[in-house]
Amino acid sequence: MAQVSSISNEQSQTAKSVTLKISRYNPEHDESSGFMEFNVQYEKWTTVLEAILDVKKHFDHSVAVRYSCRQATCGSCGMIINGKPRLACFTKISELDSNVVTVEPMNNFPVIRDLAVKFEKLFDTHQKIKPYLIRDDTELVSDEKEFLQTPEEVEQYIQFANCIKCGLCNSACPTMATDSSFVGPQALAQAYRYVADSRDKGKDSRLKIIDDSHGIWRCHFAGSCSQVCPKGVDPAMGIQLLRGYMLGFKS
Ligand code: SF4
Ligand code: FES
Repeated sequence: MAQVSSISNEQSQTAKSVTLKISRYNPEHDESSGFMEFNVQYEKWTTVLEAILDVKKHFDHSVAVRYSCRQATCGSCGMIINGKPRLACFTKISELDSNVVTVEPMNNFPVIRDLAVKFEKLFDTHQKIKPYLIRDDTELVSDEKEFLQTPEEVEQYIQFANCIKCGLCNSACPTMATDSSFVGPQALAQAYRYVADSRDKGKDSRLKIIDDSHGIWRCHFAGSCSQVCPKGVDPAMGIQLLRGYMLGFKS
């Protein structure tokens, strides 16, 4: 499957061109995936998502891609770009320093079609670790009491609160590639986020959930998850700190 097409940008004198290779695959009809190629023009600030949307607009509206915010906030547009998990809306073509930009669906996720993958398992697993503050009193919802935290207490978890659930960490994880039941770095990092929050009282129930043969001990500390996170979250570190709680080094 190959096609070379061209998108011209008549208004710009500064545009360069690049070959955009888009993985095409419809599990309902195709036995395997293939690539379609398009010659697209781009400016210094053109993102990979904008180039894909140009292709949809001018050549083939059937290319399946998921996106929403276009500002690295919603976590929808993760894909493999030139071999690495990245957000398409947060990746400028000019920064890739290549004449060819190849886009493929994220690894370790079932493909719906082309670049769109199923997120159900990621969301289910995220939900399973109880991603909310657990308390057996009503102090947190009282209008009369503020639950103050020191800067040091906030520092324990705040970077992990930046997770946008894009799934790039799970896509990069070599353990997820070999064990589809592995809970994954995204959920483990979120388990740490709540366990480390001084307001939370759900540590024991969360640790019980991830203390499983497909849970926290399955991580081999490859560190790929932390390398690809677009929000500066360090899941690999969160997993190690979580192990500290499980082994009794932290309380
Ligand atoms: S930890 Fe980072 S890479 Fe993983 S889902 Fe959250 S934001 Fe995405
Ligand atoms: S479109 Fe929302 S993160 Fe890219």
